[in-house]
Amino acid sequence: MSATRKLHIKSYGCQMNVYDSQRMTDMMAQAGFAETSSPEDADLIVLNTCHIREKAAEKVYSELGRMRKLKESAAEGGRKLVVAVAGCVAQAEGEEIIRRAPSVDLVLGPQVQEGCDKFCTFCVVPYTRGSEVSRPPAKIVGEVERLVDAGVREVTLIGQNVNAYHGEGDGGPWSLARLLHRLAGIPRLARLRYATSHPRDMNTDMGADLIASHRDLAALMPQLHLPVQSGSDRILAVMNRRHTRADYLDVIARLRDARPDMAFTSDFIVGYPGETEEDFRATLSIVTEVGYAGAFSFKYSPRPGTPAAERDDQVDEGVKVERLARLQAEIDRHQDAFNARCVGRTFEVLFEKPGRLPGQLVGRSPYLQPVHVMAPPSLIGEVAAVAVNAMAANSLFGTRERPAPGRIAVPEPASLET
Ligand code: 5AD
Ligand code: SF4
Repeated sequence: MSATRKLHIKSYGCQMNVYDSQRMTDMMAQAGFAETSSPEDADLIVLNTCHIREKAAEKVYSELGRMRKLKESAAEGGRKLVVAVAGCVAQAEGEEIIRRAPSVDLVLGPQVQEGCDKFCTFCVVPYTRGSEVSRPPAKIVGEVERLVDAGVREVTLIGQNVNAYHGEGDGGPWSLARLLHRLAGIPRLARLRYATSHPRDMNTDMGADLIASHRDLAALMPQLHLPVQSGSDRILAVMNRRHTRADYLDVIARLRDARPDMAFTSDFIVGYPGETEEDFRATLSIVTEVGYAGAFSFKYSPRPGTPAAERDDQVDEGVKVERLARLQAEIDRHQDAFNARCVGRTFEVLFEKPGRLPGQLVGRSPYLQPVHVMAPPSLIGEVAAVAVNAMAANSLFGTRERPAPGRIAVPEPASLET
């Protein structure tokens, strides 16, 4: 009997980083590794690092201290634990990691370099990931077709600014809308998503086509991550976001017009240099106005080499802490309200894995909420209608919707024909 080797991946950061981790998990599954959520059980641990997060390198070094202990206890039990560091910090720190943390066996740079040309004044991505690169559509279509052949039902197209996609295809560049239309034609591909989008690229002709795709493509899920960062026009301008609050709200309205059940998520930064209480209130009010289904919020932290880090009107840490708490409370209020509104609705759920209780499966709603349902394991990988009847902190519960008796297509007995 051969024991399956176990892989534990820890992601530290942005959407690209989580996506890279998923790709590594898929690749390693082909090499016979099963994913485990507990590092103690793992034969291979990958720390997938990200520079966007504050003190990213320090966090990796302290995590590596813990890894050294795990390696020692694995060795005592006669097991070999391999530790790898991947992602942006690995790329930047390379040899330093090997020098400071001899318990590391492998250092890998990021796999997908998509980059960004936007140069928001707070952000390191354009410096660490370089300028925007769009992979050719033929490559992406081929890759998705292979994934679907291997049983994948849902695909997320991902990049720092995926809605600026312009991959060179036959007959010129393809927009993201064109690529989504092509992918939606692949049989057995049930769901499409894309992340992350920049509001400014929604306000172009290409953006208009993308908004129309939400009306036209049933496979395109009614959920969009559209970071706004701030609700204040003054702060948006100094962040070099190059759109106003009104532009953003207009994009949201057009998307809701195209797809009325659309839900939105965002990223926010509080305490950007020079942010006043009035600016911050504009951020609170945009949360209320949009009614987000969820959002990530961060205290501004200066990144060396970015223009905002040089400013001499940095906001006090205490003020940042206080604003972050107020913002998170407002976001939570809307997230809870969104989840509560899901109770009583019927969703298509894509079933992913067995649940905690016997006979239970966990799937995902169109809005990515986990949904717990009593259902047979044969439904894993399938989409089925579920009536949602309860919610917990971060998940929903439901029952499989069976077609009502009147809707079952049973031929009428001939004797009843008139
Ligand atoms: N400080 C705080 N948050 C930041 N982000 C990016 N750079 C910084 C920074 N210097 C946040 C933004 C971005 C998300 C991925 O990380 O909100 O959308
Ligand atoms: Fe960073 Fe702005 Fe590019 Fe997003 S759009 S990756 S925040 S520079």
